[in-house]
Amino acid sequence: MIKMRRICHLIFRLLFLLDGGVWSLRNLSISVPRAVLSGEGQSAVLQCSYDLEGAALYSIRWYRAEIEFYRYVPREMPPYMIFPLPGASVDLAQSDHQQVRIVNLNRRLSGDYQCEVSADAPLFHTDIRSAPLTVVDPPFRAPRITVAQRSYSRGDIIRANCSVDEAYPAPNITWILDDHKIAETISWRSSVNDFKERGAFSHLELTLLENQQYQVGLTYTSAGLHRVYQDHAVYGQQNDDLNVVRYTLVPPDSSQFTLGCVATIFDIYARQSEPVYIKEDTPHPASVTGEDSSGAKITSNLLFTSLWTMLLVQSL
Ligand SMILES: *[C@@H]1O[C@H](CO)[C@@H](O)[C@H](O)[C@H]1NC(C)=O
Ligand SMILES: *[C@@H]1O[C@H](CO)[C@@H](O)[C@H](O)[C@H]1NC(C)=O
Ligand SMILES: *[C@@H]1O[C@H](CO)[C@@H](O)[C@H](O)[C@H]1NC(C)=O
Repeated sequence: MIKMRRICHLIFRLLFLLDGGVWSLRNLSISVPRAVLSGEGQSAVLQCSYDLEGAALYSIRWYRAEIEFYRYVPREMPPYMIFPLPGASVDLAQSDHQQVRIVNLNRRLSGDYQCEVSADAPLFHTDIRSAPLTVVDPPFRAPRITVAQRSYSRGDIIRANCSVDEAYPAPNITWILDDHKIAETISWRSSVNDFKERGAFSHLELTLLENQQYQVGLTYTSAGLHRVYQDHAVYGQQNDDLNVVRYTLVPPDSSQFTLGCVATIFDIYARQSEPVYIKEDTPHPASVTGEDSSGAKITSNLLFTSLWTMLLVQSL
């Protein structure tokens, strides 16, 4: 029966296409939250909007990974049918011809969701849209930071680690220096059917430049955010050097700064470590008086040069 209808539909659709005819189902679009939290009381509302151009709706069907879990057929009584969706349930009171609400999800329900809309006879125009949803199990604790040294001399490389408890999906880690994002470790998942919880780890190498001319205040140097992609399926087997995020810093005038890391999962989870305060061993006195000390070195740095010029002008 359903097969017959599909075949008819295909034939009609083909004829219509050949004919250059108008569609009676337009602008189908799906709207699914990118991520929701797992567990009791949590829910996700998936919506589909469409324009039937005056035609009647025959059915709307919802699939997860191509397996149907909810169908709404206005002509039938009752109009809905539900199919097993292991690891969650459908809230019938808030599901209809436009949306379906899923409650108490677990992370194994992460994946692609589809909505398929069919207009009524005779053409049964059908269209389908798909969007991913991730059901998140966040880490239990805040990320933890360890720093090899809490005081520095110019030219030092400060090494720091950030580790995050197991979570699904593995969180990204961003390093924060005095409220600036400086580097990131992006967690990377090679298989969509891997629902394992995984921790995340990032190793930072922070190089403190010696150059004193920079005391004028140009503090942060690395041009872009240094990113490292970590594939958790081969985690630990990679060349360790590839997993190091690096940043070059001109120590600030105050000779101290804070370092922290943040674990994030899409836009629904973000938690920061305790900040670590790092100070210079023997702070240098600001040395911006010598007009002759730096000319050659700074010409390549336009921003620096202009700061320097400003300073010179001020001191004249
Ligand atoms: C449907 O899509 C067409 C073009 O793709 C657009 O011009 C029209 O405004 C859309 N209609 C609605 C109701 O969104
Ligand atoms: C960072 O982690 C690596 C690998 O586990 C370890 O060898 C190193 O001592 C750690 N460094 C710090 C500063 O915690
Ligand atoms: C990690 O960051 C990448 C790049 O910004 C992003 O595409 C991905 O969705 C993020 N993953 C998580 C779990 O937030």
